Amino acid sequence: MTLPKHIAIIMDGNGRWAQLKRRPRTYGHIKGTRVAKKIITACSRKGIKNLTLYAFSTENWFRPQTEVSFLMKLLRRYLKRETENLVKENIRFSVIGDLTRVPGDVYQAIEQAREATAQCTGLNLVFALSYGSRQEITLAVREIAERVAKGEISADDIDEAMISTSLSTYPTPDPDLIVRTSGEQRLSNFLMWQAAYSEFYFTEVLWPNFTESHLDEALSAFSVRQRRYGKVSVNDNSIDKNNLEKLPN
Ligand code: IPE
Ligand code: IPE
Ligand code: MG
Repeated sequence: MTLPKHIAIIMDGNGRWAQLKRRPRTYGHIKGTRVAKKIITACSRKGIKNLTLYAFSTENWFRPQTEVSFLMKLLRRYLKRETENLVKENIRFSVIGDLTRVPGDVYQAIEQAREATAQCTGLNLVFALSYGSRQEITLAVREIAERVAKGEISADDIDEAMISTSLSTYPTPDPDLIVRTSGEQRLSNFLMWQAAYSEFYFTEVLWPNFTESHLDEALSAFSVRQRRYGKVSVNDNSIDKNNLEKLPN
């Protein structure tokens, strides 16, 4: 079975899951964190090289203050409790997103987890936190424009590779598979440049109900997708040169 080298997951539906149980949204976030932990371990054990989890978007800052601060506390607690396990599982942890907006104690926990796992060589685990694709692209454009202004490069030197390497995801390869739970079928400002040729897998399952077997379903759906990148299939000989000559002018 062809495994994706990079899976990116939009973990959505925590709030709805809690509402269905007549519990506060925060309860859904707690369950969602537990599920994230399980899926990280599962990906690591399956030998997947890169996993990006959309944990908090730039737009999520506009949620009620109580929910935002709860999510930040939850993240801090997760990192404090989990770092040791990450090291044990040889998982390297990093973050993409605007960390200037994150509370100081959360930032510290992130730095500690990053440092503790820096030498790990197994799964590359990336949390997209305070992340927005538009902001990421805007920053990259600004940085490149500054280099042009300083005369380090000329406008003609700007190519796709330069843009890719200026994004916060570099050097992680583009996601092969993007999974979104909870039935929504949109990117919500996630990895827009990087998703140019990603395969999408949408499931109605709410994130707190997502299990390793749902992950397996996504992986097996991915393994039978034909990725053509705009070309034709390798074995497709159906283009007949004689017919081409018959085309009207
Ligand atoms: C995803 O679940 C978690 C975050 C965005 C932090 P939601 O909180 O978006 O849950 P729903 O979509 O409201 O159900
Ligand atoms: C996207 O989910 C962000 C995360 C899962 C962290 P949202 O729930 O914020 O997205 P919208 O508002 O439904 O587009
Ligand atoms: Mg949501």
